[in-house]
Parts: sequence; C-alpha cells; structure tokens
Amino acid sequence: MMTATEHSATAAGSGVSATQAFRASRQHQTEDAASPERVSAVVKAVLDGVHEAIRTQQVTYPEFVAAKQWLIDVGEGGEWPLLLDVFVEHEVEAVAAARQQGTKGTILGPYYLPGAPELPAVSTLPMRADEQGTPFVLAGQVRDTEGKPVPGAELDIWHADHEGYYSGFAGHIPDGNLRGVVVAGEDGRFEIGTIQPAPYQIPTDGPTGKLIEAAGWHPWRPAHLHLIVRAPGFRPITTQLYFAGDEWLDSDVAEATKPELVLEPRSQADGRRRSEYDFVLEPA
Ligand code: DHB
Ligand code: FE
Repeated sequence: MMTATEHSATAAGSGVSATQAFRASRQHQTEDAASPERVSAVVKAVLDGVHEAIRTQQVTYPEFVAAKQWLIDVGEGGEWPLLLDVFVEHEVEAVAAARQQGTKGTILGPYYLPGAPELPAVSTLPMRADEQGTPFVLAGQVRDTEGKPVPGAELDIWHADHEGYYSGFAGHIPDGNLRGVVVAGEDGRFEIGTIQPAPYQIPTDGPTGKLIEAAGWHPWRPAHLHLIVRAPGFRPITTQLYFAGDEWLDSDVAEATKPELVLEPRSQADGRRRSEYDFVLEPA
C-alpha cells in the first residue's frame, strides 16, 4: 500500500494523493445539506440514466459483475477524483458557465494544491535547476467587466512538467515545482516565466486507465496551464490555457477545451516563447 508521503507517478500514487488533496480542501468548508427533494430528483435522474443504459444495451450479469468490480477498484485505488474530474466535471462546469460573464472557465481537475507561495507580478515559477521544456512567458492584464485594471489580482497557477507530471502527485518532482500565486501589479499586469508543459496522460495502470484501454479510447489531455484568477469582490475564475497546434486539442479526454482558451505563442528575442492573455473578472 502507498502511504501519504510515498508518491509516485503511477495511478496508485496520483490517485491516493488526489484523494488526500480533495479531503484536505474540504476540511474547512461548511455546506448546506441538500433538501430531500433535491437529493431525490438528482439521484433519481442519475439512476434513471443507468437503468436506461442497461435496457438499451441489454447489459448482462457478467457485465454487471465486471462493473461492480471496477467500481470497487476505483475506490480502493483512490481514483474517484481523477475519474470524476476527467469524465464528469466538464458538464458541471458547463452548467455553471451558462450564468457567467468574464473570461471563460473550465474544469479544476484533481491536481490543485492551495498555499503555493506568493510571487511578484513579474516572476518565474519555482522550478528545478535543470527543468526541461521550452521556456515560456505568459503576460497580460487582469481587468473587470468595465475594462478597469484589477490591482493586486492573484493568479494561482499550476501545471505539469515536460513529461506531463504534476508536483505533489509524482514522487520524483520536488514539492511546489511549477506552482505559484502571482500577484498582479497596481495596473493589473503580470508576466510569468515558466516552461511549456507536455500533454497529460491519464495514468494507464489504474482502473480509469484500464477502462480507457478496454473501450479503445485514448488517455490524453492537451498540454495546459491551470489558473485560478481571483480578487476581493470578484467571482474567482478557474480556467486552463491550451496551446495552438496541440495534437489533443480537439479530442481532450476530459472535454475541457474551449476555443477562447487557446494560446498562440510567439518566439521572443531571448529565445523564450511568449503569449499575451488578459483575464476579465465579473463582480461577485
Ligand atoms: C485530470 C488531470 C488533469 O491534469 C486535469 O487537468 C483534469 C483531469 C484527471 O486525471 O482526471
Ligand atoms: Fe491538468
């Protein structure tokens, strides 16, 4: 069994860590219990969908038993956060997005860790001395829906390395690598130095990966930067930025890409790639 401190870049490692991160993120959260009417309506709709699939697909007992075993494995492997974020979260996000203004959001995913260090408006993310990957700069401005700069807006940014692994969820990467909270200047501007991440692959050795293989799907997400952009008085935006030309942009296994979120980096004089991206926050 994997313990809390023994991460590795396997499904077991990232699944257990993602489950721990999820539990930790909920510790200080208080939530109103849903009403019995709401629980009944939502759960009944979900079960109706399952029953309908069983009828239309004429699901057999051996298939039901295989599904039961697989669900048990998902839980024991700690893979519920991965599975739900890759196959379900995009739909919840779409429901929320229909009522939102400002920069488009997309899924949070399972690899956010709160508490990354605050960094000045122009800064470089913490990285290894020999960090691989194309050096990259994301620069821009945070504004409100009336076009005014939002001074001191926070850009909480995290992303995978050049092999598609996230710090905190892969034992060979130092904690905090490629994670930071960049605080925009008085003019809302920021300039973040980092490297371009690689596409991300769902761990193939766990139950989610096995399902993807059994179904003949592919396990890839296009390369992406994760961001939560926040400022007092505004609705925080949870989003991701992608890169034009990425092989997986049109077939993201997590269905979380949007055309408004695709960067087209250019080469700078210093050899780094650079993209400009402005964020628009709506009042809370
Ligand atoms: C998953 C991983 C990600 O990096 C992401 O952005 C979304 C989902 C996942 O493994 O479920
Ligand atoms: Fe991700």
